[in-house]
Amino acid sequence: MKLTYLGHSCFQLEIKGKQILFDPFISFNELAKAIDVNSIEADYIFLSHGHADHIADAVSIAKRTGAKVVANWEIHEWLNKQGVSNTHPMNTGGKWEFEFGTVKAVVAQHSSGLPDGSYGGNPLGFVFMTEEGNFYYSGDTGLTLDMQLIPKWAKLDFALLPIGDNFTMDVADAVICAEFIQCNQVVGMHYDTFGFIKIDHEAAIGAFRSAGKSLLLPAIGSSLDI
Ligand code: NI
Ligand code: MN
Repeated sequence: MKLTYLGHSCFQLEIKGKQILFDPFISFNELAKAIDVNSIEADYIFLSHGHADHIADAVSIAKRTGAKVVANWEIHEWLNKQGVSNTHPMNTGGKWEFEFGTVKAVVAQHSSGLPDGSYGGNPLGFVFMTEEGNFYYSGDTGLTLDMQLIPKWAKLDFALLPIGDNFTMDVADAVICAEFIQCNQVVGMHYDTFGFIKIDHEAAIGAFRSAGKSLLLPAIGSSLDI
């Protein structure tokens, strides 16, 4: 499937002809200035949690495109109050069959308050099981033993994991996560955007290579087939 990196934890994946956007944070991202947020197409928007660096552009993109927004119950209710009515609520442990495949919501160890102070429920990760491949989008999370359950549900082709430390897993913990989820191909996210999470790219790639795994760090705005 086609994967486009839009900076921070924002990706666009094309599955069965549907454009699926994750955690849009583009217009406020200094590193993503070259991307025109008004040109982004979306049929679905998945939100891992309520923090601004994951949902800043969600309402505007959802209203412009009419995309269905998938998030936890509390963010679903908050979006409805913002005038975004095409939403699908999920919560930890549940799965749903969408037109592009099945998605299971899984544990993320993080927090989820919304930018206006509203309660944002629990953060989520998502396991996608589709005819074009299976993957795990972890959202912001620390390393947790719950990740060991994921291979019981899906044989993963790749995973999108945070590697920036401070707020989430660092590279070393992401390598352990990749072992827990039995996945050899990882795309890094949640790094470099702010001062707290700047990383050494070569060291990160080397750490995964030493564990017999590959870490991809695509340039912001670039696409690859995965
Ligand atoms: Ni967060
Ligand atoms: Mn974050």
